[in-house]
Amino acid sequence: MAATRPVALVTGASSGIGKETARAFVTAGFEVIGTGRKTSGLTPPAGVTYLDLDVASDDSATAAVGEVIEQFGRIDVLVNNAGMGSAGAVEENSLAQAQSIFNVNVFGVIRMTKAVLPHMRAQGSGRIINISSVLGITPQPFMALYVATKHAIEGYSESLDHEVREHGVRVLLVQPALTKTDFDANAARPDTPLPLYAERRRVFDEGMWRG
Ligand SMILES: NC(=O)c1ccc[n+]([C@@H]2O[C@H](COP(=O)([O-])OP(=O)(O)OC[C@H]3O[C@@H](n4cnc5c(N)ncnc54)[C@H](OP(=O)(O)O)[C@@H]3O)[C@@H](O)[C@H]2O)c1
Repeated sequence: MAATRPVALVTGASSGIGKETARAFVTAGFEVIGTGRKTSGLTPPAGVTYLDLDVASDDSATAAVGEVIEQFGRIDVLVNNAGMGSAGAVEENSLAQAQSIFNVNVFGVIRMTKAVLPHMRAQGSGRIINISSVLGITPQPFMALYVATKHAIEGYSESLDHEVREHGVRVLLVQPALTKTDFDANAARPDTPLPLYAERRRVFDEGMWRG
């Protein structure tokens, strides 16, 4: 069944920036589908339909986009908002931890983008809005993994925009600065902490999030 209103799919809409973005799309007159990894038991904002999605999973990304197309007939806007922070000096984050953060912040964006593009191309229209960060264009010690993921989606998004605009699809970046959400609480902590960095990390944490 095709929706009569334009359809927006917002990832990571269970909290923070994604939840507010979902609300804003409702106000703007969109049919809004918001996602989180486990939405059963959560109350969505008025006008938002919740859907389970783990952007770290190929199958989950494909299934979620398929379900939106089946239920609503189209996707006009994808907001790739789902993401996580990282804390710690570079030496304190294992390679496995780096891979898991990239799997959400970078490959999650790539998975969702690849899943919606065929539909947007067929429609001849669409917008993909990628939530980057000011840290997508500046350095930040003790957050290098996060910063690297956001720099990666900057280059990906700006390149892709040139590939798909002739099909009516545009790719945009949003670069929020520090915003009070659950981001800090949900950030990955160093999995191989070194006492050498403890004091500098503490000072950074206090200045950044509680200062
Ligand atoms: N807060 C800031 O200062 C700030 C600044 C610049 C940019 N940003 C960016 O803004 C975006 C939203 O962050 P936020 O501040 O709103 O943080 P948040 O409150 O922690 O929200 C993160 C959202 O991402 C979802 N998420 C996390 N891992 C996921 C996964 N594997 N699959 C699907 N969804 C996942 C979470 O949903 P579930 O846990 O329910 O799955 C949640 O809805 C992120 O991309 C972040 O990098 C934030």
